Amino acid sequence: MAKLNIAVVGLGRIGWNQHCQALHAHKQFNLVAVCDPVAERCVEAEATFQCASYQDYKQTLKHPGLDAVVIATPTHLHKSQTVEAMKNGLHVILEKPMTLDVKEARAIIRASEKYKRVITVYQPHRLSPAYTAVQKLLKRRDLGKAYHIKLNWHRYVRRNDWQSMKKYGGGMLGNYGAHTIDFLLNITGTDFEQVFSSMNRVASIGDAEDVVDLVYKTKQGMIGQISINQGSLANPPRMEIYFTKGYACEDSDKGFQVTSIKGKLPPKKLVKSLASEGRKYPNDKVQTKTELLKYTPEMQRDFYKNFHQAVTKGKELFIKPEETLAVMQMMDRIRKQAD
Ligand SMILES: NC(=O)c1ccc[n+]([C@@H]2O[C@H](COP(=O)([O-])OP(=O)(O)OC[C@H]3O[C@@H](n4cnc5c(N)ncnc54)[C@H](O)[C@@H]3O)[C@@H](O)[C@H]2O)c1
Repeated sequence: MAKLNIAVVGLGRIGWNQHCQALHAHKQFNLVAVCDPVAERCVEAEATFQCASYQDYKQTLKHPGLDAVVIATPTHLHKSQTVEAMKNGLHVILEKPMTLDVKEARAIIRASEKYKRVITVYQPHRLSPAYTAVQKLLKRRDLGKAYHIKLNWHRYVRRNDWQSMKKYGGGMLGNYGAHTIDFLLNITGTDFEQVFSSMNRVASIGDAEDVVDLVYKTKQGMIGQISINQGSLANPPRMEIYFTKGYACEDSDKGFQVTSIKGKLPPKKLVKSLASEGRKYPNDKVQTKTELLKYTPEMQRDFYKNFHQAVTKGKELFIKPEETLAVMQMMDRIRKQAD
């Protein structure tokens, strides 16, 4: 099995903490180079990973024997750096959000077709046990049909880094929105009938939004709902799924608490009288049971292994460019509604 020589560009929170550590430890990759304009970060990487380092991006792309790069730089650099890498014959793992807008995302897809290079966007939540668990739940017959999925990503933080500034592609739509929209669209599909969205700035110090709401309904009748709120003191469950005969709610990082109806409900007739019997309101004494659908290590998919197989064997990507293009399309739609 041929190892791929890879470089990580951008040694910040995600580049250093995630990609460098994971690729250095991964048996299918050699982390041969890194790139960051900050000299100390380069020195630290050379000492930690015994790799080459560059402060200049274009020089990085010329590193001898390089097969692929991870682009983990601020979002406004994604499009130009990705196209440049592919022009130089390199395959690309790109950080989310894919780009600033749909136009840039399309340019990346065109370049990948022109230069015949693999491009995938790092959308870790779609590889997570939570995503696998949702798919298992949707197949369960005892819960009935799922008709409403809600994602709530709440906390209180007065954001003051580049991610809070519009000019660098900051804001919660591109940040948590890229994760949640990608997750939800790949579960519900994109055949929308109605879409409502709203953006707001509540606690952020920068000029970009820190509250994003999205509700849509698909032609198949599924409601997808996202509430991202970085100025919230509430603590709602991160994910809820409403079924015709059940309810599932994410329980921290452990799994889903799944509630279903115990036994069979007795038959019940429609009462057509306009004088409600005994002046009573309808009632159902429903017995329920709740169990934990636990997250297990096998529910986690290996993103890097999949990228390796896509490059070396033409295997289908877990995160396909057209799927992240659909995320960018939804993000553009939300921005337009907010204008
Ligand atoms: N997938 C995820 O879960 C996830 C999590 C966090 C961030 N991200 C994404 O990753 C990207 C980086 O975010 P971050 O939080 O790691 O940022 P960060 O500010 O922590 O790091 C950015 C790094 O890029 C370097 N850099 C700046 N300009 C550069 C250039 N021209 N060439 C090379 N390096 C350059 C900076 O010096 C810094 O080290 C963003 O697009 C962000 O949305 C994704």
